[in-house]
Amino acid sequence: MPEAQATGAVAPPAGAVALCASAALADGGAAHLFDVLLWRAPARAFALRFEGRVVCYVNRCAHVPVEMDWQPGEFLDADRRFIVCSMHGALYEPASGRCVGGPCVGEHLLALDVSEQSGWVYWYPSRDIAPAAARASAPPPNP
Ligand code: FES
Repeated sequence: MPEAQATGAVAPPAGAVALCASAALADGGAAHLFDVLLWRAPARAFALRFEGRVVCYVNRCAHVPVEMDWQPGEFLDADRRFIVCSMHGALYEPASGRCVGGPCVGEHLLALDVSEQSGWVYWYPSRDIAPAAARASAPPPNP
C-alpha cells in the first residue's frame, strides 16, 4: 500500500510541491523561505500572505541580484504595503511583484505559481525554477 494511503495524507495537486501549512503565513506577516534551483543554480524563494492571498517570488532583487529581506523572512515595509529591498530600498507591489519605487521601477520579481489546498500551500516548479535537493516535507496526515 502506498505510504500516502497508509497515513491518510492528502496528495499534493499534480505537479505541485508542498511548501508550508497555510496557517504558517499570517496576513502581512513573515514569509516562508525555501531553497530552489533557478536556472539550475541554488537560489532562495519566499512565500508570504498579502491581503489574504499567498504570493511567491524568488528572493532576488531586480536591481542587483541579491536577497532582499531585511531580517530572515521579513520583506514588507513598515506600513506592510510593499515588499522592500533591504539593499537600496526598491519597493515592489506584493500582489504583482512589480517594482514601483527605487532604482528598478517597472522591473518585476520572478514569480512562482502557488496554490492553497486543504490547509497547505503548494508551489509549482517550472522549466526555470526547480525544487532544491532538500524538499519541503509532505503535509501531515488527516486527523
Ligand atoms: S539591490 Fe535591491 S534596490 Fe538595489
